[in-house]
This record gives sequence, structure tokens and C-alpha cells, in this order.
Amino acid sequence: MNNVLKDRVFLVTGAAGGVGREIVKQLTEEGAKVVATDIADNVHELAKEFPNAKIVTAVGDVSKSADVEKIFSTGEAKFGPIESLINNAGYMIGKALHETSEEEWDAVMTGNAKSFFLCAKRALPNMLKAGKGSITATGSISSVVGLPSQAAYCASKGAVLQFVRQLAVEYAGNGIRVNAVGPGAINTPFLTRYLAGLPDPEAGAKAVKDAHPMKRWAEPDEVAKALIFLASDNAAFITGHILMVDGGYVAG
Ligand SMILES: NC(=O)c1ccc[n+]([C@@H]2O[C@H](COP(=O)([O-])OP(=O)(O)OC[C@H]3O[C@@H](n4cnc5c(N)ncnc54)[C@H](O)[C@@H]3O)[C@@H](O)[C@H]2O)c1
Repeated sequence: MNNVLKDRVFLVTGAAGGVGREIVKQLTEEGAKVVATDIADNVHELAKEFPNAKIVTAVGDVSKSADVEKIFSTGEAKFGPIESLINNAGYMIGKALHETSEEEWDAVMTGNAKSFFLCAKRALPNMLKAGKGSITATGSISSVVGLPSQAAYCASKGAVLQFVRQLAVEYAGNGIRVNAVGPGAINTPFLTRYLAGLPDPEAGAKAVKDAHPMKRWAEPDEVAKALIFLASDNAAFITGHILMVDGGYVAG
């Protein structure tokens, strides 16, 4: 990747998950400094898995401001100000609206939209001071199309995309770019959990693949590559954009 990532300081949320781990792998292979964070303790295993990497791990819930502060402080103490935020943590409850409780709605909106607000807000002051930076979010096909049994999830990922556009416009003059990736189904524990909740997981898997014109789902590295491209200076004139990584899903 033409050295654009070397020594650049990234903070990656949801780093212990399928896509997050790939982001961390690819970034550290290119010499970036990475603050890898997740609510799951096993995020610490990344430091062992990539022993030669410039990496610091932090456990915390990105939907809570005190945890976000702790995570950013840990990262800044090790590497200095965060230059690129990859806001990738995500949470889904697969239900239609009439089945969704108030608590479930709040959990999904908090997990996907509020967490992005908190992380972006915490990242911005240093980016404004530096006059540059990038914020990149993992959206979804659910950011742009309605999907059955994803009421709160579609609302939350739609919010992520609109937030990306708003931030892009607000901070374009400050050298800060803000973008999203919109994946279709990805082969991660997130998808496994979703399929396991269906009455017939095998038929569900086939239906999910068939819904994508390319008749498959994404591997996590394919989504990570798109996120890293948008976050890097290789995308220097791209802002307010959602890059679909969906095998043609929303093209139809
Ligand atoms: N897998 C898919 O089919 C799919 C499709 C479209 C979009 N996405 C999005 O991709 C992103 C990555 O998901 P994934 O597929 O790697 O799933 P994953 O479940 O493997 O990883 C998500 C990670 O986010 C972490 N996380 C969730 N809530 C958190 C919180 N409040 N604080 C800190 N960490 C938290 C989880 O612990 C987990 O490690 C998510 O934003 C998800 O919504 C996934």
C-alpha cells in the first residue's frame, strides 16, 4: 500500500470481531500504530497474535463515554493523538418492529449510533488541532435499504450513514474526511449468530448468499481493505461517501 499507513495512528473499535481483527492485521502489517479496542476481553489476544506489531489493546464499551475516554487515553499515552478512527463495533437484534421491545431498540441504537457519536466526538479535537484526520465507519447494506427483521438495526445503520455525511460536510474545511463502508453479509461471528437464530440456518445461509448478485458473502479481509482504503490518504479527495462492499446487493 505505498507506505501511506506507516506509523499512522489508528483506533479500531470492535477489534476482537471478525472484521476488526482483519483491520488490525492489515494495518499492523503495513506498519501502522494501532489502538485495538473491544468490549470483549479477548481483544488482548491481538497483541500476542501479532507480536511484532505496533499495537496497544484496550477493553471498554464504546457506547459509554467514560469507557471511550479510558480507551482514547490509553491509546494516546502509547502512540499520541489518534489520526484515524475506524468505527467498526456493531450490534444487531434481528426483529421486526412489532416484536422489538423498547430496551432492544435502545440497545441497538446505543450500540451502533451513540457509540459512533461518542468516539467521533472524542477523536475530533485532536484532528481539528492537527488540521487533518479521517473517520471511517462500518455501515451496512442496512444503511441504505430496508431489510426484513432488522427494524432497529436498519434505523441505527441509517443513522450511521447520515452522521457520516453530516460530519463530512461539517469538517471538510478542517482537513478531516469522514466515510463509511456498506457491507453485505460478512463471514464473521455476527453472521453466524444471525443464522443460528433462524428456524433453518442452512436454508437461511443459502438465502443470504442468493440475495447477493455474486451469490456469496464477503470475507472479513475484503471489508477491512475497503475501510483501510477510505481511512488512508489513498482516498484523499473522498469524503461523505459510502463504499458498498456487497457483491452487487444494492445495485439491483
Ligand atoms: N457480519 C455481517 O454480516 C455484517 C454485515 C454488515 C455490516 N456488519 C457490521 O460490521 C461491523 C463488524 O462486525 P463483524 O461482522 O466483525 O461482527 P463481530 O460480532 O464479529 O464483531 C463485532 C465486534 O464489536 C464488538 N462490540 C459490539 N458492541 C460493542 C460495544 N458497545 N463496545 C465495544 N465493542 C463492541 C463485539 O464485541 C465484537 O467483537 C459491525 O459494525 C456490523 O454491524 C456486519
